[in-house]
Amino acid sequence: MRYSDTFKLAGHTVRRMGYGAMQLAGPNVFGPPKDRGEAIAVLREAVALGVNHIDTADIYGPHVTNEIIREALHPYSDDLVIVTKVGARRGDDGAWIPAFSREDLTRSVHDNLRNLGLDVLEVVNLRSMFDTHGPKEGSLDEPLSVLADLERQGLIRHIGLSNVTPKQVADGRRICEIVCVQNLYNLVHRPDDALIDALAGDGIAYVPFFPLGGFTPLQSSALSDVARRLGATPMQVALAWLYRRAPNILLIPGTSSRTHLRENLAASALTLSDDVMAKLNAISEGSS
Ligand SMILES: NC(=O)c1ccc[n+]([C@@H]2O[C@H](COP(=O)([O-])OP(=O)(O)OC[C@H]3O[C@@H](n4cnc5c(N)ncnc54)[C@H](OP(=O)(O)O)[C@@H]3O)[C@@H](O)[C@H]2O)c1
Repeated sequence: MRYSDTFKLAGHTVRRMGYGAMQLAGPNVFGPPKDRGEAIAVLREAVALGVNHIDTADIYGPHVTNEIIREALHPYSDDLVIVTKVGARRGDDGAWIPAFSREDLTRSVHDNLRNLGLDVLEVVNLRSMFDTHGPKEGSLDEPLSVLADLERQGLIRHIGLSNVTPKQVADGRRICEIVCVQNLYNLVHRPDDALIDALAGDGIAYVPFFPLGGFTPLQSSALSDVARRLGATPMQVALAWLYRRAPNILLIPGTSSRTHLRENLAASALTLSDDVMAKLNAISEGSS
């Protein structure tokens, strides 16, 4: 079955193939990129090719990625949904440091507003930092209540969660409306299978980060084999698998190159048969 190419996110109809802007900062997401002109060109081409969902954070750089988005795309078209995140700050050495106090979160929202050139942020994800590398239980009630206050003040329109457990999602939904969940998930890393299906039932977007494996690109002989037979690249097949996995999955592959951007966006047109899906599903079964 082929799902719709669009999904409702925070009241907007967005194309499910979006773009993640983290790769536009320098190495290790710290400092400026090698080629700022290419970064701007990537963003403009993404939007020209129909992307209307961009994921970012002011801590990318820090500030660099948002400044580049502003330079490339401001004033933004009405249908563009920019999703950002708060909950961490960067150390002088580039470390990712939890930043969950009311003061931290408020400052972070203002940093995003200023550097993106916006009066209100459409969607802000609270990025859980109990464990930087993966979801870990712990109460998010206080920081979520701060974001709900900022929403009431008109600085934020919608709230999402990132790096969270199913319990944190359920608890969060008792505090405010949660419009999206952004966790690490891809062809070989699938702890959220049940969560994705539950969110789909409730019309909530699931936005996998590291859809291509992130800093360690996905590698699998089965994936390469399928790609060869389809005349596609392994990265395209990995994205097409996510596209077919569930209707509420919004893709935000990151790239700093227009060549890769075009390749990634074209993956939404790739049709995967049930046989191919079964072969790809077996990759994760084999890896666990
Ligand atoms: N919430 C969170 O905690 C969190 C964490 C990480 C990321 N994110 C978000 O998720 C987005 C996606 O994650 P990501 O960018 O880290 O990882 P990703 O999309 O899994 O992979 C990006 C890497 O793949 C390469 N790549 C992209 N397209 C390619 C292609 N067609 N062929 C070969 N290589 C390709 C990129 O290099 P090139 O630049 O050379 O193309 C880059 O090294 C980020 O941009 C960010 O917005 C969120």
